[in-house]
Amino acid sequence: MRTHLCGELRASHAGETVKIAGWVHRRRDHGGVIFIDLRDREGWVQVTLHPEEQPEAYAAAEKLRAEYVVAITGEVHARPKGAENPNIPTGEIEVKASSIEVLAESETPPFLIEDDIDASEELRIRYRYLDLRRPEMLQMLRLRHKVVKAIRDFFDEEGFLEIETPIITKATPEGARDFLVPSRLEPGNFWALPQSPQLFKQLLMIAGVDRYYQIARCLRDEDPRSDRQFEFTQLDMEMSFVDQATIIDTTERMFKRIFKDSLGLDLQTPFPTMNYRESIERYGSDKPDLRYGLELIDVTSVFADTQIKMFQSVISKGGLAIAIRVEGQAQMARKDLDALTLVAKNLGAGGLAWIGFKEDEISSPLARVLSKAEIEGVRKTCGASTGDLVLIVCDSDPTAFMAMGAVRTDLADRLDLIPALVPEDPEAWKFLWVVDPPVFEWSEEEKRWDPVHHPFTAPKAEQEALLDSDPGAVTAEAYDIVLNGWEVGGGSMRIHRPDLQRKVFELIGIDEETAKRRFGWFLKAFEFGAPPHGGIAPGIDRIVAKMMGLDHIRGVIPFPKTGAYTDPMTGAPDPVDQRTLKELHLKSTD
Ligand code: AMO
Repeated sequence: MRTHLCGELRASHAGETVKIAGWVHRRRDHGGVIFIDLRDREGWVQVTLHPEEQPEAYAAAEKLRAEYVVAITGEVHARPKGAENPNIPTGEIEVKASSIEVLAESETPPFLIEDDIDASEELRIRYRYLDLRRPEMLQMLRLRHKVVKAIRDFFDEEGFLEIETPIITKATPEGARDFLVPSRLEPGNFWALPQSPQLFKQLLMIAGVDRYYQIARCLRDEDPRSDRQFEFTQLDMEMSFVDQATIIDTTERMFKRIFKDSLGLDLQTPFPTMNYRESIERYGSDKPDLRYGLELIDVTSVFADTQIKMFQSVISKGGLAIAIRVEGQAQMARKDLDALTLVAKNLGAGGLAWIGFKEDEISSPLARVLSKAEIEGVRKTCGASTGDLVLIVCDSDPTAFMAMGAVRTDLADRLDLIPALVPEDPEAWKFLWVVDPPVFEWSEEEKRWDPVHHPFTAPKAEQEALLDSDPGAVTAEAYDIVLNGWEVGGGSMRIHRPDLQRKVFELIGIDEETAKRRFGWFLKAFEFGAPPHGGIAPGIDRIVAKMMGLDHIRGVIPFPKTGAYTDPMTGAPDPVDQRTLKELHLKSTD
């Protein structure tokens, strides 16, 4: 139907007769001449029609409206001097149309098909097929394609096999809620959709595959967040007979390849590595954004003999006073301080205290109870000067750190500390490995140990003995990769001995009976010779969103759910008829 794409026509095509097809981007009438910007995937080109030169085509053009689909035949001409448009690649030429064929008409679209529109996200998702016509969305699809291609090329060259694993299967334990699928043939029984291919990739190692990867869809019934959808895509990989260093090195080389092939950038490797505890203590987070400072400062010792009752009671029980110094913000507005207090409280802190260091005085809700020595102590420990603000949370460990971590992130936003993305700037990409997290964390709610990663993560070999005496102190052979404040991947070395796996299950409250019922099929495989193995799963949506400088992953998923987890385009989820429910042996209780 066409000889060229609209966006690829250049001055070198001048004199050629071409046939192009696409959507009417704009139509303008200028003193008798009609200009049509015709758009396809590659961009748009200007088409001109003169009433005397092309009367028939001109008449057809008069009826065109935005988003009509047309095929145009015409001759490429250099634009008259002064009429060039240096802002678009086709700006030196225009196509003088000799014929126009309307292939499809269009209603007026609900928003303009161009970048930087202010349509609501709901509307954009409802009409996603129109949203995807916009150049920046096509750019996103192209980038996503390039990222996935770079991944496939890389792993192919490294000797990995791409292998699919089941989507309808049994529950997999990644810590989220499962999506269930009722079994029609077995009343009352359910399939589950996989939260990740975790168990199957481990079975592939037992099967002797040695090096596996998959661009894998994962499904988790989690509450919405900017970096979460319940359907997302991982680059899932697993290797046998390797150690943590090999997996980290392979992952870094993969990231290098992704950035090189899709953005033309050379990432500096190795990425820095930080111990999990250090990350919590310095940033109040296991995924710190290193593009700005605002590090946490421990000021507990300043309050060793304090008269402030609340601080006294927390510190005497082993709690901590954790501070952040904010340069030049002594005059921060009360409403900002109140908002920050709420942020700290949402993370479980009792409250947020502050000291604004002014010329000869301080402003602080604690002004009356703070001793001179304490004020001086905070000033000195935090390196505060006149004009600075110090924020403090006094609470248990790790609540004090985590609350201040959230305050830190909020401050960066509030004070606009994150620089706009300049992809060529090496400082734009702050990668970090966060390693050696604990295997377990104590759940006060459940009164039991919970796995920090997943229950197949290996404890450090030399710490196995601690599993009996002090489970909370055992470090995992696990690693997360962080990019600009998001966890973009997580992995670990796996347990490959059945006795150790049983012990870990026991510690997290999965008794032998339950373990057998839920994971018996999986544990059985370990009785047949499992190689030492480990792997990682970077999240592709998060990586692409970061590469595009977005702060949510909805923008890089072709057909996402909204932030409120609805799908305005299809209207799902929606009721099904009684007959279908009956067939599935389901009855609604609502
Ligand atoms: P984990 O649960 O840490 O590990 O997930 C790995 C990576 O997947 C991405 N991710 C998500 N992306 C978007 N929406 C979500 N709801 C979501 N949840 C996770 C993140 C995260 O770092 N099987 C293990 C991996 C392994 O041990 O090899 C796993 O799934 O980028």
